[in-house]
Amino acid sequence: MTKKPPKKPSGKVAGRQAAKKKQRRTTREKSAHVKTAKGRKTSSTKWLKRQLNDPYVARAQMDGYRGRAAYKLLEMDEKLKLLEPGMMVVDLGSAPGGWCQVAAKKGCQVIGLDLLEVDPLPDVTMLEMDFMDDNAPDELIAAMKGQKADVVLSDMAPNTIGHKNTDHLRIMHLVELAYYFAKDVLKPDGAFLAKTRQGGTSNDTLNLLKKDFKTVKHIKPPSSRADSSETFVIAQGFRG
Ligand SMILES: C[S@@+](CC[C@H](N)C(=O)[O-])C[C@H]1O[C@@H](n2cnc3c(N)ncnc32)[C@H](O)[C@@H]1O
Repeated sequence: MTKKPPKKPSGKVAGRQAAKKKQRRTTREKSAHVKTAKGRKTSSTKWLKRQLNDPYVARAQMDGYRGRAAYKLLEMDEKLKLLEPGMMVVDLGSAPGGWCQVAAKKGCQVIGLDLLEVDPLPDVTMLEMDFMDDNAPDELIAAMKGQKADVVLSDMAPNTIGHKNTDHLRIMHLVELAYYFAKDVLKPDGAFLAKTRQGGTSNDTLNLLKKDFKTVKHIKPPSSRADSSETFVIAQGFRG
C-alpha cells in the first residue's frame, strides 16, 4: 500500500504555524550562539556563551570597567554605604582591577594585591604577590604609609577543584587570613567585606567577626550569578 503524503495546512492553520516558526527564530537570534570548535572543551564553550550573553559583561565594556565583578562592589556599596572620598581601602585579590576602579572612582586611596599582574590604574598602588606569603601583611602595611584602613575588601578566590568541602575550606582559609589582617590595620568603625561560598562563613569565623564588629551579615549582590555558590560576608563597625 502506498503511503499518502501528509496534508499541507491551509488558511488560518498555515498562518499560525508560520508565525510560531518566526517567533522561534527571533528568540533564538536574541542569544549569541557559540559553535563548538575543535579542541575547545564543552565547559569553555559554555563559559564563552555565558560571557557573550551576560548583560553585565556588555555593561562593563561600555562603562570602562575591567570586568563584571565591578558591579558586585557597586551594588553592595549602594546598599551598605561603604566607600567615601578620602578613605583608605585595601583590596585583596584585585586582578584585573574592577573593584580598585570602583573605589578609586569614589575618591578612595586604594592599595590592591593579587597573585597576578594588574595593569596600572590611576590612584591605585598595586602589589603583585600571594596574600598567603608571610611578608604580604607587612608589604601592605608599608604601602599604607602609616595610615590605618577604613575598609578591607577581599574578592580572593582560590582555584576550585570541584570537591565541595575542599573548595569551601580553601576559601574559608583565605577569609580567615584576610580577617586577621583587617584586624591589624582597620580604624575603629572600619569595615571588612569578603567573598565566601555558600554554606556561608564557618561558625568559628562568624563568631570571631561578631566579637570584633558591631554588625555581621551575608550579602549576595544581584550581579553575583544565581547559580554560583558565591556569597559575601560584611562586617561593619570595627570595635578597634
Ligand atoms: C574574582 S577575582 C577578583 C576580581 C576583582 N575583584 C575585580 O574586580 O577585578 C579573584 C582574584 O583572587 C586572586 N587570588 C586568589 N588567591 C590569591 C592569593 N592567595 N593571593 C592573592 N590573590 C589571590 C586571583 O588571582 C584572582 O585574580
